[in-house]
Amino acid sequence: MSTEFLGKVAIVSGGGSGIGAEAARLLCAGGASVVLSDISLEAAESVAEELTQAGGKAAAFRANVAKEEDAAATVEFAKKTFGALHLAFNNAGIIGAEKHVGELSPEEWRGVIDVNLNGVFYGMRYQIPAILAAGGGAIVNTSSIAGLTGIANLGAYCASKHGVAGLTKSAAIEYSKQGIRINSVHPGYIMTPLIAQWTDTDLKSTLEHLHPIGRLGEPGEVAEVVCFLLSNKASFVSGSQIVVDGGYLSV
Ligand SMILES: NC(=O)c1ccc[n+]([C@@H]2O[C@H](COP(=O)([O-])OP(=O)(O)OC[C@H]3O[C@@H](n4cnc5c(N)ncnc54)[C@H](O)[C@@H]3O)[C@@H](O)[C@H]2O)c1
Repeated sequence: MSTEFLGKVAIVSGGGSGIGAEAARLLCAGGASVVLSDISLEAAESVAEELTQAGGKAAAFRANVAKEEDAAATVEFAKKTFGALHLAFNNAGIIGAEKHVGELSPEEWRGVIDVNLNGVFYGMRYQIPAILAAGGGAIVNTSSIAGLTGIANLGAYCASKHGVAGLTKSAAIEYSKQGIRINSVHPGYIMTPLIAQWTDTDLKSTLEHLHPIGRLGEPGEVAEVVCFLLSNKASFVSGSQIVVDGGYLSV
């Protein structure tokens, strides 16, 4: 068993599914105590139960990242349950409506920005003081290839993910010297429930061909990189945008 995260306490938002669940599994396997926060308590509880049954330390917490008070409550829950906070993976996200910008309603726009961008801000707003109080740590925020390039019909999603990249870089400049490394991760298309809704086989084949590696990614392939960034192995990595995209952005 790895001891990479022994004695560390981590929050993983969107921990009930996909990339977040895989990151929680790796953190737990490395010895971390993990709070799995998710808008679906049932999903978070299911992963937390799996982890505790495997001998890990994990607890589920219902939180909507789009609500500031939930972000504060998640940090309080982590401190109360496990004693401190050292690591955070701000990962919960949604795709939202798929429309051209000229057809997107302001409500649809705000819905995506609230979760994907405001959610990361609210998360860091309360995690950073707690991590500073614990003597330092690391944060990874989930952006996307859509945080580095445009994608048609995903204007709000792309804007939110570009915002995450900028917010991450600013926070890294502010806190690296105080012992918090902050990076963003930019996955290509990853096989999770988020995109499993797109069942059309032609679309799946089109998406696969956009990745020079010739397939979609697996959630564990992103989680490995996230855990590297959260670990001391990445001790000189801060303010970086780490792409995990099977070559998508190289084309
Ligand atoms: N799957 C991909 O192809 C892909 C590509 C690039 C980036 N991403 C990003 O990765 C992150 C994780 O996505 P995933 O693919 O693992 O998706 P997923 O749907 O498997 O998991 C997302 C989790 O977030 C939770 N969630 C949704 N809204 C929430 C909210 N308001 N508050 C708290 N929890 C909420 C869901 O309940 C779910 O458990 C997202 O930010 C997504 O934008 C995914």
